[in-house]
Amino acid sequence: MRAALVPGTFDPVTLGHLDVIARAATIFEPLYVTVFENLEKNPLFPAAERVQMLREATADLPGVVVEHHGGLLADYARERGVLVVVRGLRAVSDFEYEMAMAEMNKQLFGELETLFMMTRPANSYLSSTLVKDVARRGGDVSRLVPPGVAARLAARVPPSA
Ligand code: PNS
Repeated sequence: MRAALVPGTFDPVTLGHLDVIARAATIFEPLYVTVFENLEKNPLFPAAERVQMLREATADLPGVVVEHHGGLLADYARERGVLVVVRGLRAVSDFEYEMAMAEMNKQLFGELETLFMMTRPANSYLSSTLVKDVARRGGDVSRLVPPGVAARLAARVPPSA
């Protein structure tokens, strides 16, 4: 099987990410699930904790390798010999952002292809940002994230009054 990469900020990983990862892992091996930094975002969890949460959540998925990389996605893919990037697409609103990234990555590494996987409709509203917002306000996130993540969220962002 061919190697692929699922990149993201994963701050934190949600059940939406995990669904895409699990489906991609049936097609690609090894499947690198790699925590990158998005300069537009100020993450709640440090990279090492984001990696740890992903490792726990993907422990039962054969062929998945979780890593962190602080540089360019294109450089990482070249280093690992990966020619396929898989990104989940939730809605039309994701499209422009995703197209710009796919094009930029192709400019930087011409052999790299970005493939999009439609998220399940049930996950089309789900994002790490909304999960953090709900957790901060004391809402129940147990059906949105893996159990280990729910516990870490509760510890890191105790619900405000
Ligand atoms: O989960 P996100 O925040 O939508 O993922 C965006 C991410 C991390 C994949 C993107 O910001 C990225 O690739 N960062 C690594 C640095 C890089 O290569 N930047 C140029 C991207 S075109």
